[in-house]
Amino acid sequence: MSVALVTGASTGIGEATAIRLSREPGAELVLVARREERLRELAESLPCRATYVAVDLTDEDAPQRIRQHLESEHRGELHLLVNNAGAAWRGEFAESGHANVKRHMELNFDAPVRLTEALLPLLRKSAPSAIVNVASTAGRVARARTGAYSASKFALIGWTDALYAEEKGNGVHVGMVLPGYIATEGFPATELREKALTRWLVSKPERVADAILEAGPGGRAERYVPRFYALAAVARVLASGPMRRVLSGGAASALTTSTAEEERAT
Ligand SMILES: NC(=O)c1ccc[n+]([C@@H]2O[C@H](COP(=O)([O-])OP(=O)(O)OC[C@H]3O[C@@H](n4cnc5c(N)ncnc54)[C@H](OP(=O)(O)O)[C@@H]3O)[C@@H](O)[C@H]2O)c1
Repeated sequence: MSVALVTGASTGIGEATAIRLSREPGAELVLVARREERLRELAESLPCRATYVAVDLTDEDAPQRIRQHLESEHRGELHLLVNNAGAAWRGEFAESGHANVKRHMELNFDAPVRLTEALLPLLRKSAPSAIVNVASTAGRVARARTGAYSASKFALIGWTDALYAEEKGNGVHVGMVLPGYIATEGFPATELREKALTRWLVSKPERVADAILEAGPGGRAERYVPRFYALAAVARVLASGPMRRVLSGGAASALTTSTAEEERAT
């Protein structure tokens, strides 16, 4: 038996990951997100035992509620924690200010940190086990109007690197996945998919799900999806001048796509 918990499992990358994990022999899943109906439908459709916790991960008591669920429903075991839930609200800092940075940090950084703190004792007890944090290529390269989102993902990446080193000796592997553009409900990438010139940049959630398995039970430290997005991270360090000129030029605005949360807010 192998217990895996996926946050943000009601749609997109999290849903694809739950479906992918459910095909592993002996898998037992815990699905987490806010929309209970979606979680129930997914749990009932999977070929393995799956339970769910409908919770807002930014709520104060969310980590303890999830831990109690694992203790009462899954014998207090946890072999894989996938910190995937996240969102983005675009906006220039001059207009969106600290409030926008704060809401990104609460969901994309504080929530995975708080959940990991609550579940680390279970992961250590269940070792060999793994954590996979879903970061972003935007956690290596920032563009205009995505500063708050990038800040939260840069923070997640830095913390993940340290946790990898700290938990190695405890049998808890800590991996990280850095997706590029992936067409999902929250990040539809409509602007890029509409044009033949940019369509090739957009990938599918199923490819991220495969990478999550490589970065978790497979033992990889990090995986870009698609792999060629690693070039953007390398160029940011080795050719920072040209990269800065490209990213602050007019053409770069075409690379900042709208998100569902942003549409909801307007
Ligand atoms: N798609 C991309 O292009 C892309 C690129 C790089 C990185 N990523 C990262 O990949 C992860 C998944 O994104 P996605 O593309 O699959 O987006 P998505 O389709 O919008 O899915 C986001 C998931 O997070 C859940 N969620 C959002 N806020 C929550 C909250 N407060 N509490 C609990 N759950 C919450 C949502 O469920 P409910 O609404 O039901 O709560 C949903 O299941 C995110 O961390 C994102 O930053 C995505």
